[in-house]
Amino acid sequence: MIPFLVDKYGLRGYPGPLVAKFSSLWLASKAHKGKTTSAVHALHQKYGPFVRISSKHVSIADPEALQAIYGHNSGALKTDFYDAFVAFRHNIFTSRSRLEHSRKRKYTAYAMSMKGIMEFEPNVREYQHMLVRQLDTLCAVGAQGIDGVLGSCPWTARDGWVLFDCMPWLNFATFDVIGDLAVGAPFGMLEAGKDTALVPVSEEQAMKSFGQQDTDLEWATIPTIKLLNETVPWIFFLGCLPPQARFLMSKLQSFNAGASRKLFQKLGVAAVSKRLSSEATRRDFLSQLVAARDDEGKPLSAQELTSEALNLIIAGSDTTSSSIGAIIYHIARNRDVQERLQKALDDVLGVPNSMFSTDEVVASFDLVKNLTYLQDVINEGLRLHSTVGVGLPREVPEGGMTVAGKTLLAGTHVSCPTYTLHRLKSIWGDDADEFNPDRWTRGDRNMMLKYFAPFSIGPRACIGRNLAMMEMTICIATMFHRYRLVLASPDQQLECSEGFVSKPKDVYVGMQRRV
Ligand code: HEM
Repeated sequence: MIPFLVDKYGLRGYPGPLVAKFSSLWLASKAHKGKTTSAVHALHQKYGPFVRISSKHVSIADPEALQAIYGHNSGALKTDFYDAFVAFRHNIFTSRSRLEHSRKRKYTAYAMSMKGIMEFEPNVREYQHMLVRQLDTLCAVGAQGIDGVLGSCPWTARDGWVLFDCMPWLNFATFDVIGDLAVGAPFGMLEAGKDTALVPVSEEQAMKSFGQQDTDLEWATIPTIKLLNETVPWIFFLGCLPPQARFLMSKLQSFNAGASRKLFQKLGVAAVSKRLSSEATRRDFLSQLVAARDDEGKPLSAQELTSEALNLIIAGSDTTSSSIGAIIYHIARNRDVQERLQKALDDVLGVPNSMFSTDEVVASFDLVKNLTYLQDVINEGLRLHSTVGVGLPREVPEGGMTVAGKTLLAGTHVSCPTYTLHRLKSIWGDDADEFNPDRWTRGDRNMMLKYFAPFSIGPRACIGRNLAMMEMTICIATMFHRYRLVLASPDQQLECSEGFVSKPKDVYVGMQRRV
């Protein structure tokens, strides 16, 4: 009650749920249920562009809010929400200090630039090819009417189609890519068709042995994707609590998610441990981190390296697979879109035929990256799904901030929910809730791009955007050039768990080779 009565930030007049006016309970309870994005969206539909979602947090769904809060001139910094994500040390994602962040951002800046990412195209294509080999196997057995399990993934056959959940396969592919690029080796999930990775049994011993060869560490396998699914929503929930309550909650580590978090962290340790004890000289994200120097000219500590590596695995894996899964869902659901996309792909890649060489099976990024219809389909999927659809919290700097005519005092937490921004009728038109790639050509594309923020904008925008766009472009082009896809049941809804990342729970498709 006290925050409401004192009204330190002058927020009493803002509408919102009663309990949100004097605590973080409303926000935390939605986070706990995995419903934050849709709950905040529903509030905006009820109350309009300004909604109070906790005692000091205002969510602003107005086109002006995007630049004002996240733009380069905003001055707003990340809030203490991000402290909940810290493991070992602050990393590029969690650091709140402007100076520390810009130092960290430079470590991988070259590798993440478009030029740097192009060097990784062969790696991305290699895993795409592995995915195609597995999907070809499914199509072949599906065509013969045989049901079964590949790795840990079941399928059934029906009328010449193979029916299966494509989400695990997309997860395996993006985990293997990020494993390869961020830490020097894939996890081997695509090959095995299983959610599996090797980690050291003792985190402490592994960190002590960093850089040594011939260590006698004991290793065990863990289901990485499952652990990530348990860990990130839990951390997201902790972040929505005030710091004192967060501390108490995280002490209750007997909770399943707390234990999962500890196990998951070992993945970063394993990655750095293996890499530092090998003599590989390849240029990738980890090699840039190993070569980086801090402000005093010293190499990064074992903890900092591990934290950065772990962060890249988390940030670069299920964000990309969730986006691809949602895009596949919409294309599979819209037959016209799929046929037009296939025609556009055939025009640049050739009509698919069984004589295609390995190189031709996987779409070349150069050939498809400027294909307008493909990019419109991908952008439309990213807009409608909004993989990171929650409002990313920022603290209003000294001097306050004015957004859409309202002034917010220093210290107030503000955010612009991407999911709601991506559905504002004033920007996207009356059919904003529908999947319609044609909106990008029928309307003012430049105006729309100004408010299109799947990777956020400004100094804290996604550094992995170029890699993600390359992975998505190659994957969607290859899949729809080679296969025909439908939803396994036509009225299937895209159900998602909404933590920091909005993840499709499953995407059951029917699939067939086009030739
Ligand atoms: C479609 C896939 C992806 C989406 C939708 C996405 C989205 C985002 C968003 C919205 C942010 C801002 C988060 C915030 O301010 O709290 C972000 C940050 C970040 N992303 Fe991504 N991301 C994707 C893929 C990737 C990939 C592939 C990588 C790594 C290779 C990556 C690495 C990062 C990092 C390191 C940050 C923190 C950047 C900073 O604070 O300077 N992301 N991402």
